[in-house]
Amino acid sequence: MIEVKNLVKRYGDLIALDHFNLNVRSGEIFGLLGPNGSGKTTAINCMLSLLKYDKGEIRLFGEPMTPNNYRSKQKIGVVMQNVAVFNELTVYENIDYFCGLYVNDKRKRKELVEEALRFAGLEDFRKFIPKKLSGGLLRRLNIACGIAHKPELIFLDEPTVAVDPQSRNNILEGIKKLNREGATIIYTSHYMEEVEQLCTRIMIMDKGKEIATGTKEELKAMIRTGEKLTVELFDLPEPLLSEIRRVKDVIQASFDGEKLSVNCKTGSHAMISILDLLRQNGMHFGRVYSEPPTLNDVFLEITGKQLRD
Ligand SMILES: Nc1ncnc2c1ncn2[C@@H]1O[C@H](COP(=O)(O)OP(=O)(O)O)[C@@H](O)[C@H]1O
Ligand SMILES: [Mg+2]
Repeated sequence: MIEVKNLVKRYGDLIALDHFNLNVRSGEIFGLLGPNGSGKTTAINCMLSLLKYDKGEIRLFGEPMTPNNYRSKQKIGVVMQNVAVFNELTVYENIDYFCGLYVNDKRKRKELVEEALRFAGLEDFRKFIPKKLSGGLLRRLNIACGIAHKPELIFLDEPTVAVDPQSRNNILEGIKKLNREGATIIYTSHYMEEVEQLCTRIMIMDKGKEIATGTKEELKAMIRTGEKLTVELFDLPEPLLSEIRRVKDVIQASFDGEKLSVNCKTGSHAMISILDLLRQNGMHFGRVYSEPPTLNDVFLEITGKQLRD
């Protein structure tokens, strides 16, 4: 569906995309996950031929993507990061306008607009102008405008930023439904939980470059951390922390005054050894729990910094 090779985009001295590569297959919900400024929006705008780039090749549907490739554009839906609707048109008229860019037949279009209204849960707001909508409903309108013509390939750029949890769930469920009905999805976000919940494959990016790509399981298997252990503790003397760091299979350990956090390798017996050490040293501890690593741990281990803002 999408093939991007060696894409370079500069804004003056700043390299926003640095030999960026991407392959998306038909039927995927592909996530681009990266901190703010990592180049997600720039990559999307280049793929859509909305932005000129310095170098590289972009093919969509097996054809080179150019500003005049209307055959490909017809099959694409775009939901931009910044809401782009007409303030003077109602909810219904906005969806009808964007759908009308692709669908001429009035009767067919009416059906599609009604379906998009239902899809976004906006039936009761059809006569509202955008100014009267809450932030979450406005985002849903933005999405309805982008998908009403039933595109095969849908780009969604951070569609859940600053929306209430109810709209967020509506949006995420809606995206899954579009995918079940056959659309291939490109989804950008800086929220790792969302990407993990939604996407079949994920590319983690930073500074305009691919850091790693795979399913969430594959990404987590790329790092040394296989398990994160947390122990609630009131106090932990420095020498004992040093001793914990020397336990077999411990990658790193820290204490923040309330809890001990330890990253261990997969399938290790470090947890038992650590709890034994604490007990032998007369330390009383509260809750103990173990969790698998997150995509933040993947980002942290590869780049040395946190994904979270
Ligand atoms: N029009 C522009 N002019 C100059 N720099 C820009 C412009 N748009 C984006 N950038 C810069 O390019 C980098 C990538 O931005 P962007 O693609 O918006 O990242 P993301 O979508 O991941 O937050 C950032 O450093 C950003 O400041
Ligand atoms: Mg962006």
